[in-house]
Amino acid sequence: MNLKQLAAEKAVEYVKDGMSIGLGTGSTAYWAIRKIGERVREGLTIQAVATSKASEKLAQEQGIPLIPFDRLEGLDLTIDGADELDRELHLIKGGGGALLREKIVAFHSKELIIIADESKFVDKLGTFPLPVEIVPFAKEWTMASLEEMGARPMLRTEDEHIFVTDNGNYIADCRFGVIENPKELHRALLALPGVVDNGLFIGLATRAVIGRSDGTVTVV
Ligand code: 5RP
Repeated sequence: MNLKQLAAEKAVEYVKDGMSIGLGTGSTAYWAIRKIGERVREGLTIQAVATSKASEKLAQEQGIPLIPFDRLEGLDLTIDGADELDRELHLIKGGGGALLREKIVAFHSKELIIIADESKFVDKLGTFPLPVEIVPFAKEWTMASLEEMGARPMLRTEDEHIFVTDNGNYIADCRFGVIENPKELHRALLALPGVVDNGLFIGLATRAVIGRSDGTVTVV
């Protein structure tokens, strides 16, 4: 079994009957959605929201009941991946471009379980370029502001075109070097006009399930 699948399937054990669930995005969340689908087909009764069009499609294929965001007061549990996580469970997310919906869903969840293989667990965040979602019409100004903040921003592309998020925005992948103070950087980025949100998730994750190369799983 691969490590992402190992972590994902362990985390799905926390899903119980009657819960409202947030479905994450990415190649690790894929395994969680598959496993939740399997349990739904065996009789588990849940309702779910998806953090991306890709996860929505997968959930539909799996037979997971999806409901619109505005029909829910909140979520019991969200299971999602991360690009990096540290000991305090600060995260970098957005490698798959879904950070805005992922953050909104995480914020409205009582619990956020992060699933990852052990390569994602780091001492300090910052090796993975921080995804920053920006509005398209002012992209040059916003990229320049990010550069003034000390980043080396690169506009994300896909198949030689600018990558567009599910919300119609662009992503600037920003190399800040080692992020010594994630909280401060998060605040500073949110204060920048043109920035919609950024991939730093501070104080949102409540638990992490890490798949180890020796075949074990650690729950942090
Ligand atoms: C998508 C995300 C993903 O959770 C993150 O990129 C990890 O992806 P993967 O599980 O494929 O490594 O934040 O926006």
